[in-house]
Amino acid sequence: MSQHLNQLLSKNQHDKNELVELLSVNSEETQTILDKALDIKALNVGRKVYLRGLIELSNVCSKNCYYCGIRAENKKVKRYTLTEEEVLHCADFAWRQGFGSLVIQTGEQSGQSFTALIEHLLIKIHQNTRHELSVTLSCGEQPYAVYRRWKDAGADRYLLRIETTNKALYYKIHPNDSNHLWETRIEALASLKQAGYQVGTGVMIGLPGQTLDDLANDLLFFRALDVDMVGMGPYIEHSDTPLYSSSHLLWPPEERFRMGLLMIALLRINMPLINIAASTALETLDPLGRQKGILAGANVVMPNLTPVNSRKNYQLYNNKPNLDKDASISTTNLSAAIADIGETICLSEPGHSLHFLNRIKS
Ligand code: 5AD
Ligand code: SF4
Repeated sequence: MSQHLNQLLSKNQHDKNELVELLSVNSEETQTILDKALDIKALNVGRKVYLRGLIELSNVCSKNCYYCGIRAENKKVKRYTLTEEEVLHCADFAWRQGFGSLVIQTGEQSGQSFTALIEHLLIKIHQNTRHELSVTLSCGEQPYAVYRRWKDAGADRYLLRIETTNKALYYKIHPNDSNHLWETRIEALASLKQAGYQVGTGVMIGLPGQTLDDLANDLLFFRALDVDMVGMGPYIEHSDTPLYSSSHLLWPPEERFRMGLLMIALLRINMPLINIAASTALETLDPLGRQKGILAGANVVMPNLTPVNSRKNYQLYNNKPNLDKDASISTTNLSAAIADIGETICLSEPGHSLHFLNRIKS
């Protein structure tokens, strides 16, 4: 290993130039960085993995992000919202399996009835599971008052990816209109912090036209925002979206995958106490993607609990895995796969972000 890389890896905070350098490494050097990240993970958060049961509550969405398969203008998608009974069934399954927490994800929706639906589900889930599940929401940009209401109803974490911190690129992958303002997204992240959530954000890696400079800035953004959790993964094209026409600009899938792992590793080195998810998109590009994500520094996986008949309608990108697998089967496989790589699955623990716990103490 080059002495220079060694020197860079002996630091626990990297500046912009150093991050660009670390993102420019070859595959052998990539492995050195991943190994370092695993050491840092072991030292700071342990070789532990937390399970979050993912419920894709509704694919109804008012937005038109150019990359996403469930964008409002994709008329091929059959829209659904799970029933209360289905949601409570998923929550009960997660609770009985000993998952510490749930993630409720939807397309972006607004208005009184949507706010009330989420609030009601939060209250029911907590009642039915003796308040033993922590709940993360991923329901897009909302006014502060809505975030507060959901927090009061028992949500304790929120995920809202910035998608990319390069504003020019942001407007290449989103319509440039009042419904897709980059500033609104930044404000929403600030509101979430103010409302007291454990806040998660993230980006897509390998977007058409994205540079190593952009990815370095993304990492710096996570640190500047002092986030508690990050979920990020490779961009994967969807044939029924406008961004599909830019596919010729993409890095090959293996390269997007390698960069996905490298980003996780560099983030773990720079923010050792946060929770980092091994995204489903990693698993889409490599059947062992989630395990590899964990070995690169991630400590969270999100088994999909959405009922199988709705899952096919929540295709953000092509070839999303586990479309036809029953939750119990994919969970069993996943648990075995995680144990196989020498990690311990933490059952019946909320798995709060240690970064968050430290943040609120100080
Ligand atoms: N490839 C990868 N990730 C995607 N997402 C949406 N579409 C894609 C895609 N084509 C991610 C976005 C969003 C999250 C719910 O899914 O980052 O925030
Ligand atoms: Fe809607 Fe989210 Fe997809 Fe954008 S990424 S179209 S907000 S579901």
